Amino acid sequence: MIKTLEWTDAGVRFIDQTKLPTEEVYVTCATYQEVADAIFTMIVRGAPAIGVAAAMGVALGVRDAKADSVQELRPQFEKICEILAATRPTAVNLFWAIRRMKEKFESVAGQPVDSIKQALIKEAQQMYLEDIAACEAMGRNGAMLLPRSGGVLTHCNAGALATCGYGTALGVIRSAVASGSKINIYADETRPFLQGSRLTAWELNQDGIPTTVIADNMAAAMMKQGKIGAVIVGADRIAANGDVANKIGTYSVAIMAKEHGIPFYVAAPWSTIDLATPDGDHIPIEQRSATEMTHFSGKQITPTGIRVENPAFDVTPHKYVTAIITERGVAKPSYSESLQQLSRNEPVPA
Ligand code: MRU
Repeated sequence: MIKTLEWTDAGVRFIDQTKLPTEEVYVTCATYQEVADAIFTMIVRGAPAIGVAAAMGVALGVRDAKADSVQELRPQFEKICEILAATRPTAVNLFWAIRRMKEKFESVAGQPVDSIKQALIKEAQQMYLEDIAACEAMGRNGAMLLPRSGGVLTHCNAGALATCGYGTALGVIRSAVASGSKINIYADETRPFLQGSRLTAWELNQDGIPTTVIADNMAAAMMKQGKIGAVIVGADRIAANGDVANKIGTYSVAIMAKEHGIPFYVAAPWSTIDLATPDGDHIPIEQRSATEMTHFSGKQITPTGIRVENPAFDVTPHKYVTAIITERGVAKPSYSESLQQLSRNEPVPA
């Protein structure tokens, strides 16, 4: 399995996703500041992966903090959490992970400093394992929703590279293929960062899953030609009413799917569900650097000084979403009810 990120004694090790697919390079972040930088610059990206990366960043910062007592450690811990939380605003997994590390800190705050450090390292490693298990469970829960043959469209990268392994949307695809489905995948290239053409295509290719890259503006034509039987994407944050924040362009894919009568599925771990946010209008959308738009591979592709907008995510209203696949089960409309049921670990009626 692709090692997206990994805890090592030397620090947190990442496959550098800015270099894929032409170079398979690994970087080790030896400090929590380097981990924060890796999240900000998208060496590591994808909501579940950045959540666990942040948890490992917290563990790394605390491990290396100079403190003889919890009183000395606490302000350093809080600063580490603050810096990691400031990296990217949309994926709620980041805040979920930091909150979980804070809860762990409080639960062991009465113990010696060394035990606190060990407990936080263990918690981050546990989150890593849980993320892989959640992806595998999503795969099992969602595989039968996909068609048994034909084309399936995905947008951005919601694969092993966006998680600790296996993937959310791509996990469902992997699971469907493992159970005998003869599907072929259309990967939207996903301008401007090209997560689809660089990352999704790379990892599906490694697995031998038939994959075709299309430019984002080709999807409607493919749907009209009957080449796409289902859409499946990941998510960065899902509000209580089922509105889905995901990579910019997801909203237009969902509208196109609806117009063509194609089911639109979202696969996400429970750490992506944000029941405290009522709807998509309340989800903060990250604006990234204009150079991602104005330059390609270091080469300027727009007129000097032109104004650009570069929102990294959009919100797909819940009315376009056929089902939300989680490790706890599959939520269907009405999401205000089904997500609450899953939050209580109650079964959702099929
Ligand atoms: O900006 P990115 O590459 O971090 O955005 C990633 C996405 O939008 C993914 O689709 C989402 O995080 C789901 S990943 C399982």
